Amino acid sequence: MTRLGHLLSGRGRLALLLAFALLLPLGLSVVAGDAAAQSGSLRLDDESAAATGPTDGGVPGYTRGLDSDADIWRDIRHGAQGRVAIPDAKAGIMVQSEGEQWQALRMGPLQDYSGWALLGTIVLLAAFFALRGRIRIDHGKAGTTVERFKGIERFGHWLLAISFIVLTLTGLNLLFGRDLILPLLGPEVFAAITLWGKIAHNYVAFAFMAGLVLIFLMWVVHNLPSVTDLKWLAMGGGVLIKGVHPPAKKFNAGQKLIFWSVILGGLSLSLSGWALLFPFETYFFTDTFEQLNAVGIDAAALLGLPPPPYEAIMEQQLNQIWHVIMAVAMTCIILAHIYIGSVGMEGAFDAMGSGQVDKNWAQEHHSIWAEEVEAKARAKGLAEPAE
Ligand code: HEM
Repeated sequence: MTRLGHLLSGRGRLALLLAFALLLPLGLSVVAGDAAAQSGSLRLDDESAAATGPTDGGVPGYTRGLDSDADIWRDIRHGAQGRVAIPDAKAGIMVQSEGEQWQALRMGPLQDYSGWALLGTIVLLAAFFALRGRIRIDHGKAGTTVERFKGIERFGHWLLAISFIVLTLTGLNLLFGRDLILPLLGPEVFAAITLWGKIAHNYVAFAFMAGLVLIFLMWVVHNLPSVTDLKWLAMGGGVLIKGVHPPAKKFNAGQKLIFWSVILGGLSLSLSGWALLFPFETYFFTDTFEQLNAVGIDAAALLGLPPPPYEAIMEQQLNQIWHVIMAVAMTCIILAHIYIGSVGMEGAFDAMGSGQVDKNWAQEHHSIWAEEVEAKARAKGLAEPAE
């Protein structure tokens, strides 16, 4: 009998079948393993996972293609960063979930509270005007004037003031325009206003920064705190009761508060605005929070934010929120300033208009400064040779 004949004999056939039955599952598991490895479980930032094949949630039948794996989406929702072929590495983040929180805050509470703060300030100023009326020069006008601000000081003030007003109006349009102006003027007009407004906002910001530097250099010495300020504050600045005039130097305590709010608020506005103008280049929040952490202040936790460092996109979102908060706070303060510098107080506007103020106004509101100016004028008069 040949070898083949022996294999196909009764006992031989049984042995062949047994061997086949034993080897079949082994062969199948090798094939299945290969298929699983090829379909792969795609995980961002975890390449080893791709080789292990599907575990949970695999596509039925082990067909090739992406798994509907919840882990992938969880990773993506947590901002896992993959790789992209373009230079902008940030594009490797498919979903930045904080963006949704930012949008909800921007379109909700940020807009609402800003609106209420601005309206509240206007209502308070109107109520103050109704109760107190215009603050008059108690002794009436003297008819003679003294120089309060030189040309360069008025130039610095109006550079700052006009640029701030342009920035405020164009900025408010970005915050509220879609709700308030779009329904009134229609999409064409609103689009044109917003486009030109945005361009103006970007460029006028530089004039604002220049004005800020100018007034800081010119007026910082006059705005250092002094003991007179405490007295002025204790007497409510004399604005609440008629006939009360606490002594003050060139700037009183109220004006010093305005000055420092403008300088510090303006600096903060400028930095956050700069970061928005030249995006993804600064890490102000990461840097600031890390500095605060070093002195034991966990600012991020206090604000309900995740701990730093933040991705570039989140830095932009925080900059945008901060820019609006600072802008609205400053606008409320400046509304009060504009009120007192115009309709609220007789004779005040002249200081920034012609630069000359009435002598009685100077004596009532800035007595120490008025006496200094008079003493200087007397000394100059004595020094000048008689004609
Ligand atoms: C139409 C708008 C404005 C008017 C009528 C106005 C009026 C005035 C006047 C009259 C003074 C001098 C007060 C004095 O003699 O003691 C002054 C000072 C000043 N203004 Fe304005 N201003 C306006 C807008 C602004 C804006 C938008 C800013 C800043 C963003 C600003 C910042 C200042 C500062 C820092 C001072 C010096 C500190 C003080 O007097 O409070 N002003 N302004």
